Amino acid sequence: MSGEIHAGARYYGALTLPLYDAAVLNIAVPFAWGVPLEVGRGMYRRLVGARHLDIGVATGYFLRKAMAERDAGAITLMDLNENATRYAADRLKRFDVTQAVGDALEPFPVEGPFDSIGMFHLLHCMPGTVAEKAVALDHAIAVLAEGGVCFGASVTPAGRRLNPFGRLVLNASNRTGALNNAADDHDALRAEIERRFRDTKIELHGVMTLWEAREPR
Ligand SMILES: C[S@@+](CC[C@H](N)C(=O)[O-])C[C@H]1O[C@@H](n2cnc3c(N)ncnc32)[C@H](O)[C@@H]1O
Repeated sequence: MSGEIHAGARYYGALTLPLYDAAVLNIAVPFAWGVPLEVGRGMYRRLVGARHLDIGVATGYFLRKAMAERDAGAITLMDLNENATRYAADRLKRFDVTQAVGDALEPFPVEGPFDSIGMFHLLHCMPGTVAEKAVALDHAIAVLAEGGVCFGASVTPAGRRLNPFGRLVLNASNRTGALNNAADDHDALRAEIERRFRDTKIELHGVMTLWEAREPR
């Protein structure tokens, strides 16, 4: 890792993290990207396994919702920004939580194997082409347990019609570097996932690609 935190991870601090759920999850996700929050909550409820790795955690919102109904679980939280892992870990402290600071584009500094790996709203923050971002899937595969699932969501707006609010959020966030996804394309991401996994379920919901993938090739 270069030691530098790119803009897509830099904005998550003591002042912004408490606002993240209200502003990003409750407003941008449904109204700019067209995905009801329940879609992500349902995936986490269904897919989080006994040993779960979450990459790009921010507040840990989806994981907290999924774990609310559970008594136990081993959770590893990995993020490029330590503020995020600390914030989420504090809110999940009744579980067995491990924190790791690391870049999803580099081999993950975590102890696998994991039954489930979540990458929600992560790739669209990261710099590079879809093919360059998809290297994170290779690093996930390296720590995925046999029979495990890797799942995620990323806004892939290239070539899609956005509503005026979505267009505004996309332009502003790509200008500041909070998101790096103006050129991200659903079919390109689908191809990267299918190239790496035999068993996939990939959907475009609004302008967001949602996937679950099993059986690395
Ligand atoms: C938009 S938030 C997503 C948070 C959460 N997964 C969700 O769905 O609400 C993106 C998170 O990814 C982290 N992040 C961005 N680039 C990263 C990278 N290259 N490696 C690891 N984490 C990264 C940011 O620090 C931030 O916590």
